[in-house]
Amino acid sequence: MALKDSIQSLMTQVADMQAANAEELEALRIKYLSKKGEITALFNEFRNVPNEQKREIGQLLNQLRQETEGRINELREQFETKAAEMDKLDLTRTPDPIELGTRHPLSLVREEIEDIFSRIGFTIAQGPEVEDDKHVYGMLNFAPEHPARDMQDTFFIEKEIGVQKPTDVLLRSHTSSVQTRVMTSQKPPIRVLCPGRVYRNEAISARAHCFFHQVEGLYVDKNVSYADLREALLYFSKEMFGPETKIRLRPSYFPFTEPSAEMDISCNICGGKGCSFCKGTGWVEILGCGMVDPNVLESCGIDSKIYSGYAFGMGVERITNLKYRVKDLRLFSENDVRFLRQFESC
Ligand code: DAH
Repeated sequence: MALKDSIQSLMTQVADMQAANAEELEALRIKYLSKKGEITALFNEFRNVPNEQKREIGQLLNQLRQETEGRINELREQFETKAAEMDKLDLTRTPDPIELGTRHPLSLVREEIEDIFSRIGFTIAQGPEVEDDKHVYGMLNFAPEHPARDMQDTFFIEKEIGVQKPTDVLLRSHTSSVQTRVMTSQKPPIRVLCPGRVYRNEAISARAHCFFHQVEGLYVDKNVSYADLREALLYFSKEMFGPETKIRLRPSYFPFTEPSAEMDISCNICGGKGCSFCKGTGWVEILGCGMVDPNVLESCGIDSKIYSGYAFGMGVERITNLKYRVKDLRLFSENDVRFLRQFESC
């Protein structure tokens, strides 16, 4: 009977058998099943069992050995699958997920504008943000007393800190300054797009900022006409805002173009029917443009009797507002990730 009790107590031990690793499992196998193992010892005792009990005890012993082997195999399989899973892990990865950055909406829109104009032959030109009066105003036909030169609009740079002396160094207030840089350094035909940041002395609010972004376009060649300007702008508007977009050119005034115009597009929110965005008119203004004033060509050393040109300038924030309905200009420079993440898929 003692043998039967031993078998039963081993049976319960084996059922609860646990091993934390392969070494512990091997120790268990040795403990129970090796030549000197506990179960083998019970088998050795079997020959002393009285004949009438041999059948019952023999069956129990076999059952014990099978269950032990089964449990050991089960535990081994668990280790093997765990090890296989561990192999699949990339242990060189950082524990923190790597977050991908997003494109800034102003970059997205600027690049789209560049892309559209590059398809009709425009290349990119750049100029300095810290400029002189000559390139920003003088050569662009601004009369010396023109109000745009007033301290109200333009940030002038003091040559000596704290000493306010008249200065001709300033932060450019528009990208039209790049026109004069390009026209003095290149010969026609000229077909450039000039994206960049501009500065104005404005109080910061939802609708105005002390810096913003513009894209300037300039085309100078023989026989460039107002019809060419209109065609290029119609093409741009349809590419940017959809094929149903209409444009309208209203007479306006800029010192550096003659004639000058402001361009509206049919409101892309209501489709021209009239809504609160377009103040019920069905139209929204997006840019200024015109034929380059002959005085500007001449001041840059281009013969205005041989060459003519058109120019246009648009605000990137304005276009972005129309495309993505960003109503508060300050969002563009605050770098709030909750705002920027909304452009992840763009
Ligand atoms: N420079 C003008 C501004 O900042 C925009 C502009 C208007 C640019 C007409 C042009 C143009 O090239 O032809 O308001």
